[in-house]
Amino acid sequence: MQPTRSSISSVVRVEPRALAAALLLSLVTLAGCGRGVTLTSAAPSEAPAIPAREAASFPDGWRFPAGQLQAAVAPSAMITSDNGIASEAGLEILRRGGNAVDAAVATGFALAVTYPEAGNLGGGGYMVIRMADGRAAALDYREIAPMAATRDMYLDASGKLTDRSVVGHLASGVPGAVAGMAAALEKYGTMRLDEVLAPAIRLAEEGFLVDSVLHRSIRADSALIAKFAGASLFLPGGRPLAVGSRLVQPALARTLRLIASEGSQAFYTGWPADSLAAEMKRGGGIITREDMARYKAEWRDPVRTTYRGYSLISMPPSSSGGVTIAETLNILEPFGDLPRFGTAQYTMLLAAAYQRAFVDRNEKLADPAFAQVPTAELTSKAYGARLQKTITPGRWTPTPEIARTMREGMETTNYNVVDSRGNAVATTTTINSLYGSGAYIPGVGIFMNNEMDDFAAQPGQPNQFGLVQGEANAVQPGKRMLSAMSPTIVLDPADQLLLVVGSRGGPRIITSTSQIILNVIANRMTLADAFSAPRIHHQALPDVLIHERGGLPADVSAALQAMGLSLQVGSDGLPNGIMRTASGLHGVTDPRGNSSRGARGF
Ligand code: DON
Repeated sequence: MQPTRSSISSVVRVEPRALAAALLLSLVTLAGCGRGVTLTSAAPSEAPAIPAREAASFPDGWRFPAGQLQAAVAPSAMITSDNGIASEAGLEILRRGGNAVDAAVATGFALAVTYPEAGNLGGGGYMVIRMADGRAAALDYREIAPMAATRDMYLDASGKLTDRSVVGHLASGVPGAVAGMAAALEKYGTMRLDEVLAPAIRLAEEGFLVDSVLHRSIRADSALIAKFAGASLFLPGGRPLAVGSRLVQPALARTLRLIASEGSQAFYTGWPADSLAAEMKRGGGIITREDMARYKAEWRDPVRTTYRGYSLISMPPSSSGGVTIAETLNILEPFGDLPRFGTAQYTMLLAAAYQRAFVDRNEKLADPAFAQVPTAELTSKAYGARLQKTITPGRWTPTPEIARTMREGMETTNYNVVDSRGNAVATTTTINSLYGSGAYIPGVGIFMNNEMDDFAAQPGQPNQFGLVQGEANAVQPGKRMLSAMSPTIVLDPADQLLLVVGSRGGPRIITSTSQIILNVIANRMTLADAFSAPRIHHQALPDVLIHERGGLPADVSAALQAMGLSLQVGSDGLPNGIMRTASGLHGVTDPRGNSSRGARGF
């Protein structure tokens, strides 16, 4: 059944007065609890040790004024995703007694149906899990390079980088999404694969109504979609699916039914693998049936770090997310209280910390099966303190390299679940660019990723996100390409769940996720204000501070330029998150996006 607006009425919209009461309550609770007190239960209704809140202050005229955005609030469970129908699919599983992992997997499969620009079976992702009993895990289901991949496969005869790592069949890595979601369910879920797949199958078979977000997304990428075989489904008669029309996906439904009845291996060794390999061959790609059969998701030890008494659990390599966030926070921590949010001093310190962390990220991080990755060193407090000493407040140190042009892309998707027992899941998944490589596998009903572009297709040259990466992340067969995806879970000083957060936005995933965390912990904002606040981005190269239009007042821009920073206006990532507060679970999707209906709870 198609969820309607009335079916989301279980989400209580918080009133400003209720927010003030909650604030007061949380302050009282904080005073009563104090640091180091161990709470006996992780039930989300218990107040976490959150710091005293100060009214946030954003630049005059900023498009998301402080106090305006309202979080969805629910007493028991919450899901945030970029698509309301997919969040509803997860809630359905929670209502049936499933836990957060069951619901996350249901949401992930539903996103593959209802959010084809980024939800996927043809891509990969990462999941960070923290169970209420304290167990934590990180699951890597990133794509891998096909066995026929070679270091220079994206260069032309004269050694110049082509666009084949971005567009078309050759851009795809072997997809990990199906293996990953099944692995998560098997280890931490409580329901069967066919049970959590039921909402996605229903949505694919019976269809769902196309909204303006999906219509606009198809329209924006219609040239790419038209180039490949998905055109007839998404561009009937050559036009983007109309708002209000029903999108039914029989091929995808058949694939989902196969996975439900025979398990994830059927996707990798059965007819979907055959169809995929055949379409790859036809379109000039190199993924074979053998590549599919050898794909495995990997369980990894999460990156763990602390910031001012709060604990972070995040994604280790092959994603750079957790390491880069940990390194950034370790560089900032020795400064103690940061300058006031939004000042030139604050912005400069943040940019300098990101710059240093991204230098390491771009050079040293890669698939740990192929490179010696110094995760322990890069995430150590001692290393952070050493780098902190290299920062002179008020004076910018240029990144030692030539600045290069940056291209933009915004097409990953993050989703989070907290269940009534206090189990939490943060997941980010992607096919990289909007509709991936554009290559569509007709019989399977899926778009394929263009994740191969996340390798350094030519070490030292920028990829589509302008990231200049080194040899460690060069293309090699069977290797996972470095990612920025940063699903992260934050615990309060009493080790109770506080925040579940992640983002889309290429390298901005790292900076936007960490700024939400900083806004909550260091800048003492409500979750809604933490998302509304203007953000900045720095990724070492190009050596420019990207800021949002209207996000830096003129005097702050002038002061930053006087410090030696180059400024550039740009868009930012699209995070979403869940925070446990004294007034219940707050769920927020970023106001910059079209996903405001993606926060649902009960
Ligand atoms: O894994 C990565 O870091 C990228 N493939 C993510 C791409 C992305 O976020 C695109 N935009 N939202």
